[in-house]
Amino acid sequence: MSWWQASWRNRVVRFVAFGYAFLGFIALSAAGPSVPVDGAEIFSRCVACHSLERNRTGPKLCGVVGRPTASISGFAYSKALQALESEWTEEKLNWFLESPTRKVRGTRMAYAGVRDAEERLALIAFLRDAATDPDLCP
Ligand code: HEC
Repeated sequence: MSWWQASWRNRVVRFVAFGYAFLGFIALSAAGPSVPVDGAEIFSRCVACHSLERNRTGPKLCGVVGRPTASISGFAYSKALQALESEWTEEKLNWFLESPTRKVRGTRMAYAGVRDAEERLALIAFLRDAATDPDLCP
């Protein structure tokens, strides 16, 4: 075997090896569990009715984490939500947002809910952090 045949073969082997390594990297970064859920993106499902800063179809959500339930004055809450007489802790939000109409029978929040637990956690973290972000909640 002459020298150029050996080096040609080496090149092919190296090319194929790099190819596989590259494909493996792409596959890992696309499917890897390390890709975090973006809470802001989940919140985009709420903005049909809610704004952080002001009341719309739903009450404003700035500072909702830690806020007493149904406590925005001037917003016409349903009797069902008023009857909760609770506080929107992260746990309470996690409970409610999974399926609002089933958790609080008679709520006017006509929304199926965020069924994915990981998405709910990211959403609640977004709402909590928004309260101290002057760009989102001045
Ligand atoms: C179809 C419109 C609509 C959508 C979509 C919607 N909401 Fe609501 N939301 C409402 C209404 C209306 C109320 C008031 C409910 C009541 O009085 O029973 C409400 C109430 C709430 C409350 C209680 C606030 C308080 O002051 O007690 C929270 C928390 C809330 N929504 C969070 C969310 C989040 C988070 C999303 C997105 C995942 C969302 N909502 C999507 C309409 C909506």
